[in-house]
Formats: sequence, structure tokens, C-alpha cells
Amino acid sequence: HAVDTVVGIDRINFTVPNHYLDLTDLAESRGVDPNKYLIGIGQSKMAVPALDQDIVAMAANAAEPMLSDDDKERIGLLVVATESGVDQSKAASLFVGDLLGLPGHHRSIEIKEACYGATAGLQLACDYVARHPQRTALVIASDIARYGLSTPGEVTQGAGAVAMLVTRDPAILAIEPESVYESRSTGDFWRPNYSAQAFARGKYSEEVYVGMFQELWAGAQELGMARPDELQALLFHIPFSKMGRKGLRTLGDGVIGETDYARLTDRFESSIIYGRQVGNVYTGSVYLALLSLLDNDEGLTEGDRIGLFSYGSGSVAELYFGILQPGYRGRLDAAAHRTMLQARERLSVPEYEAMFSAQLPTDGSELVLDRSDQSDSAPHYLAGIKGHERQYR
Ligand code: HMG
Repeated sequence: HAVDTVVGIDRINFTVPNHYLDLTDLAESRGVDPNKYLIGIGQSKMAVPALDQDIVAMAANAAEPMLSDDDKERIGLLVVATESGVDQSKAASLFVGDLLGLPGHHRSIEIKEACYGATAGLQLACDYVARHPQRTALVIASDIARYGLSTPGEVTQGAGAVAMLVTRDPAILAIEPESVYESRSTGDFWRPNYSAQAFARGKYSEEVYVGMFQELWAGAQELGMARPDELQALLFHIPFSKMGRKGLRTLGDGVIGETDYARLTDRFESSIIYGRQVGNVYTGSVYLALLSLLDNDEGLTEGDRIGLFSYGSGSVAELYFGILQPGYRGRLDAAAHRTMLQARERLSVPEYEAMFSAQLPTDGSELVLDRSDQSDSAPHYLAGIKGHERQYR
């Protein structure tokens, strides 16, 4: 098997729930200056999932539009990365493969390491395709970020899924085999099994994020991997856009040349357009930033090199690189993505609070979800729970 096989992202798509909360409405209701959310946090809207859009349904909805029957035949590995899993034992990917109608001849797993999970999945997928060049791998990041009403994290919630097809000779982004990464046990953010909401040491989590970025950046410099003049864009995990901006700012003040810093800052703005309207999608956040950059930046061209900083609390971080491939623009559907974001329904704060508080039963009781109250435009959805098993359509 060829170690020098070029592998990477051949297709990428995302889905968001079709309800959102405008953060100026949230600010007013919480008695906060809207600029704290719009500028201080750097977010404008937040996706709010209906109960029928759990991570399995969203994952299937993100992947479905980009797969033909032939594509489904070639998939040899399906990874769903999530920290909002629906079962302690069965992988979410098995439900997703079933909804997508994938033939059985593939490996199917769920991966967890906070927001880093999809990068772990993507690297695994690249290794798999390098060893099995005739097969492809489908990696889906799907999450619901919940912190609780009136908590400091409330404004950084969100939900959505990003699907990526990894192949040899990819049409969008070739991923370089060399990267820098680090794992270190920290208590910056976690969600115990008994809790539907995450806990965070907010300011400390920001410190760990920035610290790990700086270490990996320095490591990449030592290895000659990240010459600033060779990077056309640098993408960040975006729990909220200010966080990525703080990471990028560590390269200001002469750390890298002014021209390079200006170019990376300019590209950063294109990378947060979608995330600002969606919120944190945990595992998918850095990939939503990639899609936002590719859909919205007119200046990028084939052959351009992009850095991606992936961070997952707890904590694992990786800085890796990819090269834009010839004709990549033709493989994107920016119009569909913009239409999806614009077509969403705006919730009032009481409607959002009611949706947030409506949770699936935790005592094993059966449930039938009435689609008319839920997310009626999404093709795949959770229809209910019967005999302790989730029922999907
Ligand atoms: P807070 O209490 O709202 O923080 O919590 P704050 O009061 O310091 O305000 C935030 C910013 O708004 C500050 O700017 C203020 O100055 C500014 P900064 O100092 O940060 O640059 N501000 C204003 N700006 C303009 N006009 C105004 C105004 N007022 C204030 N009027 C915090 C913020 C992020 C800590 C909280 O939302 C939180 O705990 N979020 C959840 C944790 C989180 O997202 N951490 C990020 C790093 S960890 C990570 O990325 C991993 C993660 O995705 C999970 C995973 O891996 O699975 C979270």
C-alpha cells in the first residue's frame, strides 16, 4: 500500500436544525448588553434543535445529500464523532449507516474525545484510505452543545452536523500526513454521564485552548511545518468566534510578519461566517469553519495551503495542514448552505426555553414524537422511543 497516496476530503456538507435564537433577543432577556454576545463572544445566532433532531438524525441529514448509491458501495469505514452520544454501547454510526442505506461491508464506529473527536476520525479515515485506496471513509461530526439556561455558557450553545467523505485523490482538500498533536488531562470542560448539560471552567478552558495552540504552533515551527508565508489560511476550533480570534491573536504583535498576519486575519473572517450563525457544534466546529472559508472566500485558489487547529477539551489538540485541490469550488454548494441558514425559523426566548427544557424521557417510558411540533423539514428524524430503543425514520 502506497504511503504516498494522496488522501483527504473529497466532499463536505453540513446540516443545522431549522430553528434558531437571535442572540440580541437572548441578551435583552438576560439583561446583558447585546454587544457582549455580538462582539465580546462574537456570535449572532444560535441553532436550537427540536427533540427529533438528535445527533443520529443530524448526522444522516448532513451525509445524505452528498452520497450516490455508488458512493455508498465504496464506503469501507463510517465514523461518527460526537460527545452527545445516544447510547453507551451501540455506536451512533450503526443507526446512521442504516438511515443512509449503506451496504453492510464497512467498519462502523463512534469516536469520542470532546471537540477533537472528528479530527481523530478524519486522521483514522486518511490512514484507512491510504491502506485501502479503492475504498472510502465517511466521517461525520454531529453534536448538540448544551450548558443550561442563564449560565455563562448559554450563549455558546449550538447544534449541527458536518459530513466528510475521505478518498484517495480527493477533490477538495488533500491532507498532509505530518502534523503536531498533544494530549494532556485537564479539567476544563466535561459532562458526567448523569448530566444533560456540560460543565466548564470557562476562563481556564480558554487558557488551555490558547496554551495548546501556542505549543503546537511552536512545535510546527521547529519542524518547519508551518511557515507563515506558506499558509493561506489558518482555521480554528470555534466554540464561539472570539475564541478562535484569541488563538489567532497570539500570532500578532510581530510573532509572524504583518502581511502574513493580515492575510490570516482576513481569511479568519470568512471562516466564522457560518459558525457565528450556528454556535458551537463541538466536533464539527473546525469543519464548519473550513466549509465557511471554502464557501465564502473568493480569494483562495487551488494549491493553497491551509492549517487547521483542532481542540477538544479534556484535552487533545492537533495542528495539521491541507492543500486545496484543482476544481474544489465546483464540489461545493454554497448556495444550498446559505439557503439552509436563511430558511430557519426564528424562535422567541420563551419558545427557545420551552424547546431547551423539553427533554427525552430518562426513565425508559415510551414516546412518540409529533413531527408537526418538531423539525418537519428534515428528511431523517427521531420518531420516538419504544422498548428503550430509539426509532428513526
Ligand atoms: P463570561 O462570563 O461571559 O465572560 O464567559 P466575560 O464576562 O469575560 O465576557 C466575555 C467577553 O465579552 C470578554 O472579552 C468581555 O470583555 C467581553 P474577552 O476578555 O474574553 O476578550 N464583553 C464585551 N464586549 C463588548 N461589549 C460589551 C461587553 N461585555 C463583555 N458590552 C465564557 C465567557 C466563554 C467563559 C463562557 O461563555 C463559557 O464558559 N463558555 C463555555 C466554555 C467554552 O466555550 N470554552 C472555550 C474554550 S474550551 C473549547 O473550545 C472546547 C469546547 O468546545 C468543548 C469541547 O471540546 O468539547 C467548549
